[in-house]
Amino acid sequence: MNILEIIEKKRDKKELNKKEIEFFINGYTKGEVTDYQAAALIMAIYINGMTPEETTNLTISMSQSGDVLDLSKFGKNVVDKHSTGGVGDKVSIVLLPIIASLGIPVAKMSGRGLGHTGGTADKLESIPGYKTDINMDNFIKSVENIGISMITQTMNLAPADKKIYALRDTISCVESIPLIASSIMSKKIASGANKLVLDVTVGNGAFMKDIEHANELSKTMIEIGKLAGIETVCVLTDMNEPLGYAIGNALEIKEAVQALKGDIPKDLKEVVLECGSYMIKLAGMGNNIEENKNRMLENIRNGKAYKKFLEMVQNQSGDITYIENIDKLEKAKMILPVYANKDGIIEEINAEEIGKLACKIGAGRVRKEDIIDKAVGIVLNKKVGDIIKREDILGYIHINKKELVEDAKQQLIDIVKISEKTLPLDRKCNIIAIHY
Ligand code: URA
Repeated sequence: MNILEIIEKKRDKKELNKKEIEFFINGYTKGEVTDYQAAALIMAIYINGMTPEETTNLTISMSQSGDVLDLSKFGKNVVDKHSTGGVGDKVSIVLLPIIASLGIPVAKMSGRGLGHTGGTADKLESIPGYKTDINMDNFIKSVENIGISMITQTMNLAPADKKIYALRDTISCVESIPLIASSIMSKKIASGANKLVLDVTVGNGAFMKDIEHANELSKTMIEIGKLAGIETVCVLTDMNEPLGYAIGNALEIKEAVQALKGDIPKDLKEVVLECGSYMIKLAGMGNNIEENKNRMLENIRNGKAYKKFLEMVQNQSGDITYIENIDKLEKAKMILPVYANKDGIIEEINAEEIGKLACKIGAGRVRKEDIIDKAVGIVLNKKVGDIIKREDILGYIHINKKELVEDAKQQLIDIVKISEKTLPLDRKCNIIAIHY
């Protein structure tokens, strides 16, 4: 067997068998298959798709490419959560401390920004000192001692996914159902959870642009979950508009801290409560979804969720004075208001365009090796459906590069579509469907 034959087979729309998939994954993990050979195969998979058997074999093979965590000491129900990616998506940062404050252990590995979407690990790193790369022993100890740890995929868990994930971003091969499903599920299998809530985002700012594809992705991941012994619930959420108001790393940490203290934008609140109530159910801590939501809200009100977040930050060497006083977090040199110049109703704030704009001014990576500017981004002042006057501020651009200012301002004006209607639009619910 050699890699050229495997590439050729997939290029010619033939099905790969288990041995061929394992050959590719083992070879690429060890560096025996080159980046350009892997890129060719990934592109062939992107174009020609995979059968359910191929997707399952790819997932299992990636999950076994490194270490596999054993979290069974945390009980028979170990729950995890993952998002398929979005813009302004700070759900994990708000949700997981709430869940931990309810006594449910949280051992969370998060990703970095991919394409126009942000990554939780990048966001957490905008807290000075916060270490996302702690080793496996300390990760487990943290969960034992304080009930929560949020890190990045630094340990040798699913290293094949880590390489392929980074490669896909640089060759425009992100939006593929078998590649997304195997990427997410391989990490989850390797990280030891046996219950999983997936936030499957749908819309222009997500990798799944419509409900049909999101349903298919959900079905694929639920099926893989069944084979791997992971009970999986998919919550389909709207991603046509950024979630909350802030887009950018430190800016999203600020919004998340405010949310944990009770000041939480409506759309973010819906997603946090829906995903969380299913996590509580899967953990065996309550079957009534509405009651579970109330328990989460209670732990925001009584300060337990915020306290848990502080505990986690401190435990991971983060400086909590930046959380206690969020104004201390790194700021961009220029914070510029952008005015509407038009009366009407906000009809659209395209999440993908906002995500791309945020990347362009430095909040995300355009190339794999780019270093993120933690301080920059966009803070919207209005949401879809709001009334706006010409003298009102649409949003603020937080920016460090002077040469990008005029273009960024104009782009924000172009992205936020204002119609001449006079009545505010009814705000839609962000939860589209639940699959399990
Ligand atoms: N999140 C992942 O972990 N993998 C993907 O491919 C997309 C989103």
